[in-house]
Order: sequence, then structure tokens, then C-alpha cells
Amino acid sequence: MKLDNLLTDESATALAEDPGAVSSAARKVYVKTYGCQMNVYDSQRMTDALAADGYVATDVIEDADVVLLNTCHIREKAAEKVYSELGRIRDMKQERAEAGRELMIGVTGCVAQAEGREIIRRAPAVDLVVGPQTYHRLPEALRKARGGSKVVETDYALEDKFDHLPQPRRADVISRGVTAFLTVQEGCDKFCTFCVVPYTRGSEVSRPVAQIVAEAERLAEAGVREVTLLGQNVNAWHGVGPDGSEWGLGRLLFRLAEIPGLARLRYTTSHPRDMDDELIAAHRDLKALMPYLHLPVQSGSDRILKAMNRKHTADDYLRLIDRIRNARPDIAMSGDFIVGFPGETEADFDATVKLVEHVGYAQAFSFKYSPRPGTPGAEMKNQVEEAAKDERLQRLQALLMDQQATFATGLVGSIIEALIEKPGRQAGQIVGRSPWLQPVILDEKAGKIGDIVQVRIMRTGHSSLFAELA
Ligand code: 5AD
Ligand code: SF4
Repeated sequence: MKLDNLLTDESATALAEDPGAVSSAARKVYVKTYGCQMNVYDSQRMTDALAADGYVATDVIEDADVVLLNTCHIREKAAEKVYSELGRIRDMKQERAEAGRELMIGVTGCVAQAEGREIIRRAPAVDLVVGPQTYHRLPEALRKARGGSKVVETDYALEDKFDHLPQPRRADVISRGVTAFLTVQEGCDKFCTFCVVPYTRGSEVSRPVAQIVAEAERLAEAGVREVTLLGQNVNAWHGVGPDGSEWGLGRLLFRLAEIPGLARLRYTTSHPRDMDDELIAAHRDLKALMPYLHLPVQSGSDRILKAMNRKHTADDYLRLIDRIRNARPDIAMSGDFIVGFPGETEADFDATVKLVEHVGYAQAFSFKYSPRPGTPGAEMKNQVEEAAKDERLQRLQALLMDQQATFATGLVGSIIEALIEKPGRQAGQIVGRSPWLQPVILDEKAGKIGDIVQVRIMRTGHSSLFAELA
């Protein structure tokens, strides 16, 4: 099962608002988003920042005066996709130039941060390169680029980008639907040896409590029912409460649960080492906190976990899950796995399989290890052969798919709550979301968008649940 709002660099999301509602004179920006939800959130904030300069979003690339690719660097495949897309857009720019019309091309996100000026060397049609820490400077960068100079902005900003990016506008929030992302934390200090994030997103920064609460209230006032807090290491978030005491993510969730209208809270992505007692208590006590936890472990082998610099063992992880399940018995687990990390033997891989069998995942993502430039893993001598990676990935994915199907089938006959999110693909249908992130297909008479309804699960579909009003 692949859900469109989960981390997947295989799917790119074009973000847009209502293009029909604008004057034809306005300049138009098309943003294509790759990678994780944090990029989805950033793309919206970039669009908001450019709106102040008179740009309106379009989802039709041919109409755009500016094309921004908000990119992902997590695996090689994700990064290379950007260059093939740039090839296509270059041809468009050429045709435009012949017709005397401008097309500005910008690369933002993690590839921008990692490769900087190299992008313009490889793809000279690119006009601007802006890293994730400096989106508040995007309007100015675009002005400079339109003036004819190539712009590269990849310094880590001294100022906090969130202090400068505009809050989402009410009309934009409404057009984006009843669920929303809210970035509370960026960057990572953990330095897992496979991962580029500490280099592309920098060190851990937490947004202040007041800013987060204000944004969540604004979302709720505009009709948002479900907020997903985002961070590369979201449960490392920390702040100072209004009473001057230290807050962790658990305390923040208790505060956000008080906001009228916000019926559902989620957070992603977590690190096992940052699951503290208060966060587990939030799972126990907060009805609004959905019983679903994405808690990547990457491997079930202690030897590999050590080489990955995860700083915990497989057993630590399993005991943690026991504690979480004691607090919230209906919680569904999700995870990320890497197969073929340098030095991984068949025995190490078997340990991963054993861990997966023990946990039983409702959903999981698994990847072949991809050496990333600048990370310690890429320098390791004992790289695993592609054929072994392929074979292990297939085996692991078969097991995970099986678990996912078992989880979904187990819901048939039960009554659950679904948040109605959008019209269905077929006439007469409406699509909701289960507490465990599965799409729930309903008759449109079941309710209106934003309603939370009790439904009985009748059967499972390919990646969704079919249900009737209970
Ligand atoms: N190769 C393969 N997968 C990776 N991930 C992160 N870095 C790499 C890499 N170099 C995976 C991890 C992480 C998820 C976001 O992507 O499983 O949790
Ligand atoms: Fe990809 Fe990581 Fe950047 Fe998200 S933060 S876009 S997953 S490299």
C-alpha cells in the first residue's frame, strides 16, 4: 500500500490553488514537490511567500512563468529524477525564449542544499538554487534572477526562516483541505551513517511553542480537522512553555489537543531514542492523538544498528514498542527499513526479518541502501552487491505487504471513525481516512468533507477500505 501523503520520493506532488480565480496578468508559479512531507509543507510556504510578490500558483506547468522543483536528496534515485525533469523543462524554456516569453527555473530543497552551484553547471538553464533554510529569501532571489543573474542561496540562514515566512492565508488553508501539515522541527543531530539529512537540513532546530500554537489555531479556524506535526526528528522537538518550563513533544501535543476543532493529531518522523514518558503518556491519554506511530528502526541486527550509529539495539526498540502498546493497545506501528547497508550479511538480514515478524507492522517503507556522497556509509569498504540488495528487498517487502494486508483484513466488520477528506474518484463516492491512515471509500451520502463519521468496514480494496455508515 502506498498512501499519497506519506514519505515517498517516488511520487511527486504538484501543488496548486485555484488557477481560475486569478487575473490573467498575474505571474504564475508551478511548484513540483519531491520527497517527504516536510517538502510538501515547504512548497506551500514558498507559494505563500511568493504570493506577497504577486505570484499565484498554477498546477499547469505550461502556464507557469516560474517553475520550482522542490527536491529530495535522500537516495540517489530521488536526486537523479530532478535532472531528468530539468532536461524537459529546459526544452520548454527554449521554446518560450523563441516566442519571446520568459520562463524562470528554480531548484529548491535538499538537492539545492547538497549540490548548490553544481546544479547550474550541470543544468545551465537553471536560474536560481535556494536551500531549505532560506525560503524566506526566495522572493528576493527570484527578483535578482529575473534581473539576469544566476542566484545560489544555500547558506544556513542566521535568522529563523519561520520567523519570516508568512503564515498560511485562510483562503489557501481552505483550498488545501481539512488535513494539514505543520513543521515544528527541522534538521537532525543524530548522524546516522547512511543519512544526508544532517548535511542538507542542518542541525536540529525547534520552532517556538507560541508560533506553533498560533499556526495550529489558524488552521483550525479555517476548518482543518487534522494536523500532522512534522520534523526530520520530530520527537526531538523541545521548547519552553508559557510558564517557563521545558516542554517536549508530548507536552506540546497535550496543548494542541485543547484547540477547538482540531479532532486529530499526528506526528512524524520519530527516532526511537526520543520517545520519552510524556510522549507515551500522550498516546495513552489523548483521544485526538491517532493510534498510529511511524517509528523507523532501519535494521533488526545489532551489528548493523551499531554501524549505522543508531545508538540503540533491536531489543531496546522492541521493549519500547511494548511500553507504547501497553499505553495504547490499539496503536498501529509503521517503520522504515534499509536493506544492504555496508557489511550486512544474510544473518543480519534474517535478524531484520525476525524483528518485523515480532512487531507486526500495519505499514512500512523499505529501501535498498543508497550510498550518499559525504556520509560515512558511502566510504565503507564492505558495500553489499546490488543482487543481494534486490533479493533482500523483495523478501522484506513481501513480508511487510503480508502484514499490511493482515492488518487491513483484521478491520473488516469493525466500526471505526473516518475523517471525510475529499470526493472519490468515482461518482457518488467520498473518501475518508481511518485512524491508521488508510483511505476509506464511502457513499457520498455518508457525510460532508470535514465530518468524522462512524463507519463499518465491509471489505478491503487494493490499498483502501470500503465502508458503510454505521
Ligand atoms: N539509502 C536508503 N535509504 C535511506 N533512507 C535514508 N537514507 C537512506 C539511504 N542512504 C531511508 C531511511 C529513512 C527514510 C526516510 O529513508 O529508512 O528512515
Ligand atoms: Fe528527502 Fe530528507 Fe530532504 Fe525530506 S529532508 S526531502 S526525505 S532528503
